[in-house]
Amino acid sequence: MDTAITDATEISLDGCRSIWEMRSDNWILLVDDLGRLSVLAQNHSDFTTTLKRVMRTIKSLSPIESYWAFPGERVFAELKGMIERRELVRAHLVARRIHRMLAGQTYRHESVSLENEGDLPSQIETDEERQAQLSRPYFEVLIVDEMSASEQDALRRRVQRKRSVDDDFVFDIVVVPSFEDALIATLVNFNLQAVVVRYGFPFRSQNHHLTALRRVLDGLDAGIEALPESERGPLLGRQIAQLRPELDLYLVTDVNVEEIAARMGETFRRVFFREEDHDELYRSIMRGVAVRQRAPFFNALRDYAKQPTGVFHALPLARGKSIQNSNWIGDLAQFYGMNLFMAETSATSGGLDSLLDPVGPLKLAQEYAARAFGAKRTFFATNGTSTANKVVVQALVRPGDVVLVDRNCHKSHHYGLVLAGAQVGYLDSYPLNDFSMYGAVPLRQLKKTLLAYKHAGMLDRVRLVLLTNCTFDGIVYDVERVMMECLAIAPHLVFLWDEAWFAFAYCHPIYRQRTAMGSAAKISAMLQDPDYAARYEAFNAEFGEEAWKDDEKVLNTRLLPDPSKARVRVYATHSTHKTLTALRQGSMIHIWDQDFKDKTEEAFHEAYMTHTSTSPNYQILASLDVGRRQVELEGYELVQRQLELAMSLREQVFRHPLLKKYFRFLGVGDLVPPEYRETNVESYFDEETGWSNFETAWRTDEFALDPTRATLEIGATGLDGDTFKNKHLMDKYNIQINKTSRNTVLFMTNIGSTRSGVAHLIEVLVKIARDIDERVKDLSMIERRIHDKRVRSLTLEQPPLPDFSAFHPAFCATPSASNMATRDGDMRTAFFLSYDDASCEYIDLTEAERVIAGGRELVSALFVIPYPPGFPILVPGQIISPAILEYLRALDVREIHGFRPELGFRVFTEAALARARQIKPPRAQKAASS
Ligand SMILES: Cc1ncc(COP(=O)(O)O)c(C=O)c1O
Repeated sequence: MDTAITDATEISLDGCRSIWEMRSDNWILLVDDLGRLSVLAQNHSDFTTTLKRVMRTIKSLSPIESYWAFPGERVFAELKGMIERRELVRAHLVARRIHRMLAGQTYRHESVSLENEGDLPSQIETDEERQAQLSRPYFEVLIVDEMSASEQDALRRRVQRKRSVDDDFVFDIVVVPSFEDALIATLVNFNLQAVVVRYGFPFRSQNHHLTALRRVLDGLDAGIEALPESERGPLLGRQIAQLRPELDLYLVTDVNVEEIAARMGETFRRVFFREEDHDELYRSIMRGVAVRQRAPFFNALRDYAKQPTGVFHALPLARGKSIQNSNWIGDLAQFYGMNLFMAETSATSGGLDSLLDPVGPLKLAQEYAARAFGAKRTFFATNGTSTANKVVVQALVRPGDVVLVDRNCHKSHHYGLVLAGAQVGYLDSYPLNDFSMYGAVPLRQLKKTLLAYKHAGMLDRVRLVLLTNCTFDGIVYDVERVMMECLAIAPHLVFLWDEAWFAFAYCHPIYRQRTAMGSAAKISAMLQDPDYAARYEAFNAEFGEEAWKDDEKVLNTRLLPDPSKARVRVYATHSTHKTLTALRQGSMIHIWDQDFKDKTEEAFHEAYMTHTSTSPNYQILASLDVGRRQVELEGYELVQRQLELAMSLREQVFRHPLLKKYFRFLGVGDLVPPEYRETNVESYFDEETGWSNFETAWRTDEFALDPTRATLEIGATGLDGDTFKNKHLMDKYNIQINKTSRNTVLFMTNIGSTRSGVAHLIEVLVKIARDIDERVKDLSMIERRIHDKRVRSLTLEQPPLPDFSAFHPAFCATPSASNMATRDGDMRTAFFLSYDDASCEYIDLTEAERVIAGGRELVSALFVIPYPPGFPILVPGQIISPAILEYLRALDVREIHGFRPELGFRVFTEAALARARQIKPPRAQKAASS
């Protein structure tokens, strides 16, 4: 039998969900098989099959290992050689050691090296070791150069010789020989922190096995291959920067260093001439990582905590004083540890800073956050995105300004809009009746609304478009397209993207393209690009003035904004605490507004003052600072892992015979109707095409689904979402989830999710399914009929979700005829009118149906919000429609805020409405009369 492991066979990784998971699984398989071989006699019947499998495993691992510094190509080749020479006992020991070092991450520890024979530690066992690792983090540097194995070894030794005890980090190198390999390594190797692109390397990879990984190269222009070598490096830099902007890039060139440095300064941190300055390159790499690792506010707070201070100010708990003195509350310090209280202070000097007027470490921390999330400016908020949203709305909206907003946005917007006195134009998201939830607002509806304002001569009154990206259920907009097309109609528009659930997205190239900040940067660059100006001119000439009069044509055309008129004014709010590392309520406001300084800075400052506590929580601020550090140093890895875990969870439920009887994770085909999926992609992962659907759909479709938010349809169990959550997941198995709908529950993976956590969830689902199966088997005939009816109701008979009806004319700025198209209302007046008991009365559901049928317009005085689904089906000033009543009647939830079961709806009296019609707020009246 031929035992040589040749590289000739193509190994497809297409069906593989996760390269990293596959890597780990393959090492386990290899160790197991080598263990078996090392004790089997060669003539044993299992020997040949096992050896063949070992060879297959080595072939699968081989291309992947070429992108990592550990164990590295040389050691891997040695292992291969041992197997070929049948030194199987030795091969088993080496493979086992490598696997242990990978699994325990001990290779990151500088003192561990495979070359030392003897017994190497395979786990971090002592605190000192852990401390050593933490104090000198490890990373890898990608070198793009065509080098022989001995040249690579020499370079590695040179780098190792440069190491000094004073270094803050320790790094190893990975060398790849081509443009394509460099891009693949950028995606595969999460240990990378820097890339050194050297002069003269081929374009194509010789690594033919990686069909799955090669997909990342799909979008590459074939013309790149024909580029002169001197241009290849700069271009590679730009491509890597797009994939992973956090990496530090260095270019070592043989030609025109000055010219390239001037041209490429933005992409490369530094450009070096030939090999002339190794020391400087080494120091630059270290410094580049140190810059990202710095956490100025956290560090300042830690230093402050160490200083001796006497407190003659507020906060008795500072330094733990009021706890240490106490006979009764010592357990608080026992539980949290003293550091928490040492870091509690109301001081804003002595190395600390004031959030309301930052000049020191908080100012820096916010600047670093802007860098990490691709913003021009970032502000921290210690009161959650609920407050961040109100700050932005107040900063941007003057009383009477029209704000177009999705009705199922978070309640902080509704209240923020009331406070700001906005004219609120609610937009309907597409309904997902089968699952009792909403999707997102179709671009067509948004364009249609803007056109209505244009026709009414009121386009300039529309100030802000406010949308939720992504929604609770994971629906994600094509942010760039929405803004481009809206700006084509209304070039002055400002956008607020509520990305409460999407803070993590900037870490990953697939997600990043649909973030507010990523899109703002792209549009901004585009609008300044002469090529875009030419594209716009061509579009404009072809589309023509006349076409603007034809709404259908405008709606059906992909519009381009006029670069001489459009402004890029984009705001995003992040609940950093929801998806990244930050204490609860830690949020950020990110801004890319080219008019910020001229038009908004002062108003923003006032709004920030309105809503920000004068005692912001320092621990929250420090956690935001450190959360940002994590994003810049390991965000990509964590998000990719989270994505893969979510895919794994979905797949396991899909495959399991019992689970699939009762449960189904909703895919993009369920949550995004076909008209918003140009690619027709129904599912993001399948065995044949792997992930390619996911990437294509996210690039193309009007709406995409974030697979890390996994909605499980549970109607077949006969249990509603609320019961399933509380009685089964929480009470019995301590599994916490948040959102439910009538027949679904939402599971979210996050950057803290683990493989064992997912395994536990699967185990619990299996137990629940088994319980239900048993219970259903034992049902009597009558009980069975009841159960089937319940299942039918949950799976087939959902109450249709009602659209926004209309604001009553008493709260409309414009006469009702045009208002049907423009639809905005003065919610603030209605909201405060409801404070007046004499203007309101209560009316129950049946009575409401009767009086509406009799012709009376009933107008809600309150927000009416059923939980679930948690969005207002009525807002103050809104007409109660028969569809809304029908929905409420069919809804079987216990909790409906703003609706008192014993009294019914709080509505305005007819007299109050008549009075309100006459007294309109001054601005609204002016608008109505103009
Ligand atoms: C879309 C959206 N925006 C804003 C918020 C409020 O965020 P926070 O909890 O950080 O105040 C939430 C909370 O769930 C949300 O879902």
